[in-house]
Amino acid sequence: YRRLRVALLGAGAVGSQVAGLLIRHADELADRAGAALDLVGIAVRDVDAPRDVELPRELFTTDAEGLIVGADIVIELMGGIEPAREQILLALTSGADVVTANKALLATHGPEIFDAADQVGASVYYEAAAAGAIPIIRPLRDSLAGDRVRRIMGIVNGTTNYILDRMDREGSDFADVLADAQAAGYAEADPTADVEGFDAAQKAAILASLAFHTAVPVDAVHREGITSIDKAVMDAARGAGYVVKLLAVCERLDGADESPSGEAISVRVYPALISREHPLASVHGANNAVFVEAEAAGNLMFYGAGAGGVQTASAVLGDVVSAARRHIAGGVGVGESTRANLPVLPIGRVTTRY
Ligand code: HSE
Repeated sequence: YRRLRVALLGAGAVGSQVAGLLIRHADELADRAGAALDLVGIAVRDVDAPRDVELPRELFTTDAEGLIVGADIVIELMGGIEPAREQILLALTSGADVVTANKALLATHGPEIFDAADQVGASVYYEAAAAGAIPIIRPLRDSLAGDRVRRIMGIVNGTTNYILDRMDREGSDFADVLADAQAAGYAEADPTADVEGFDAAQKAAILASLAFHTAVPVDAVHREGITSIDKAVMDAARGAGYVVKLLAVCERLDGADESPSGEAISVRVYPALISREHPLASVHGANNAVFVEAEAAGNLMFYGAGAGGVQTASAVLGDVVSAARRHIAGGVGVGESTRANLPVLPIGRVTTRY
C-alpha cells in the first residue's frame, strides 16, 4: 500500500479514541482506504495530561505546525476557534485534506474554511461536527443532493435530551438531572453551551447550510434554551399529549416578502412540543435524531448516539477513510463552498407543536 501521513490535533475524549482505533485497526483501515494510514503524531497542549486511551508517548508533541506541514491528512479535534482555524488553514495550504469535528468553527467560519479548501483543491470532511456518530452530513450533502429539503427537525444535543427525558419520565427537577448529565460525560465543559442551546444552534447552522445549499452563520439562528422548563410545563405538555424536546428546526419558507427571490429560510432552536405519536418523541436518553422532510424522498429519520468519545470517533474515522481514498485517487475537492445566500428570517417560535 501507499502510505499516507496522518496528523492528529487534540487528544481529548474523541481524539484519544481516534488515535487508539487508528493504531488498533491499522490493517483493516488500510484495506478499506487502499492506503496505509500512518499516525505520525498527536499535537497537544500538555504531553503529560491523562488520556482516556493509552497511547505511545513518542507520538505526542506540542509543535502542531511542525506536525501539520508534510501531513497528507490532518484530523483536527481540539475544538474552539483559535488555534484550530489557523491550523486548519495551514493544513489546507500545505496540501493536506482536513477532517474536523469542530462545530463552533464551521458554524462561524465555515465559508472561509471551505473557500480555502476549494482554492487548493483539497477537501474538508466533518461528519462528526453534528449529531456525533449519526451519518447526517453525507446524507444531506450527497444522498439528498438531487432532492429539495423542506424541513429538518433535529434533536442534536444529547445533554438536553437526557435532562428533558428524565424530567418527563420521572418527574425529576432540572437541577438534579443536569448534575447527572455532567457526571455521565455528555455535557460540554461549560454546560451553558448545552442548556442554553448554543451547541444545538451551531449544529443547526451546519445542517441548514447543507440542506439549503447556503451559508447560515450561527448568529442568524434563533436560540432559546431549556432552563425555563419546569415540572409544571412538563405536566401540562403531558396532559395535552405532547412531550417537550429541544429542537433544531431548519425550514424553507416560500413566498417571503423580505427576499427578492421570495425564498428564505428559518433556523431556530427552542423547546418545542412534539406529539407523543411523532417518531422524535421516542428519542430517549442522550440519543440524537434528525428528522428530514424532503420533497421527493418524503420523511427520513436518522437516529443514534450524538455524543461520546468512541461513538464520535466512528464518524471521524469514516471521514479519514474517505479523505484517504480521495487523496490516493488524486481527486480534487468536492466543492463544498455554499455560494447561494438565502436570507435567514429571524423567526422564533412560529410553530411550537409538531
Ligand atoms: N455536549 C454535546 C451534547 C456533545 O450533549 O450533545 C456533542 O456535541
